[in-house]
Amino acid sequence: MALFLFFFLFYKVKTSIISNVYCIKEKRGIEMYKIVSKETLNSAVELMEIEAPFVANKCEAGQFIIVRVDEDGERVPLTIADYDREKKTVTIIYQVVGYSTELLSKKKVGEYVEDFVGPLGMPAPLHKCDHVVGVAGGVGAAPLYPQLRKLHEMGVKVDVIIGGRSAEFVILKEKFEEFCDNVYIATDDGSLGTKGFVTTVLQELIDKGEKIDEVISIGPLIMMKNVVNVTKPLDIPTAVSLNPVMIDGTGMCGGCRVTVGGETKFACVDGPDFDGFLVDFDECMKRQGMFKEEEHECRLKNAQ
Ligand code: NAD
Ligand code: FES
Repeated sequence: MALFLFFFLFYKVKTSIISNVYCIKEKRGIEMYKIVSKETLNSAVELMEIEAPFVANKCEAGQFIIVRVDEDGERVPLTIADYDREKKTVTIIYQVVGYSTELLSKKKVGEYVEDFVGPLGMPAPLHKCDHVVGVAGGVGAAPLYPQLRKLHEMGVKVDVIIGGRSAEFVILKEKFEEFCDNVYIATDDGSLGTKGFVTTVLQELIDKGEKIDEVISIGPLIMMKNVVNVTKPLDIPTAVSLNPVMIDGTGMCGGCRVTVGGETKFACVDGPDFDGFLVDFDECMKRQGMFKEEEHECRLKNAQ
């Protein structure tokens, strides 16, 4: 009986926190979150601008949302790529990689998504300094964009290195060009910019004597780990953004557990941005691979 009461109370408190304390689910009738524009960025990545007044009003660079496409849909965490407080819209950029992102991808302009919960996580810790270099890998350019734009607005000189497997996978180049002093491109196959990884370009900049106060790196874990391998010996502070498996997004399930500076942190509430020098990337990569089988099974089941 006591156990039953405990779980009942836990469920109630959790539900209440999610729906009330965060005050972030602005559902008033099911047609709240209207898709106002949609763009295909490449064969794997799409952009969607969604009407979400509360999130648009409150969110800051570095935070994320959880979207549910329909009533039975799973909760998909996605970083905020942009927001417009006047238009009351939030822009998300997502890779069409699984059942839920495929469902999202099928939605058309003028249609609605069921839930759009946020802003979640901590705003990115952005500091006023002389020169920041952003390093983006693939779709990681999306969460990096609002951070670098904010730094530019703070008067910081901002450069960006964008990496992609080939020219097609380099996203937001023109958007970064609007405010970055220098936009460097690296492609794995050399079809655009430097042939090589983003770390090749970063190392070249450092070798040329570029004075860099901070680096912000967002992309695949192995990329962020290798960026830190370049910056740590030179003591260039480096922020990274982690996106481990997330379930509730409110610090309760433990799914997004990461080790930072020897301490357990939850990316959804303590991050997603962390000091790259302190992140245990090897553990993150191991945990990221843990659910591959379940993800595959879920995809097959949902596709039936
Ligand atoms: P990708 O695997 O195509 O890699 C993009 C670029 O990263 C490459 O072109 C290269 O320049 C660099 N890179 C890759 N491997 C590297 C290595 N070993 N050393 C140095 N640089 C390397 O990227 P993708 O398929 O677009 O995947 C993007 C990743 O970003 C996903 O894994 C996603 O989970 C992650 N992501 C993170 C966040 C976040 O907030 N942390 C947000 C969105 C996406
Ligand atoms: Fe559950 Fe972070 S997603 S604790």
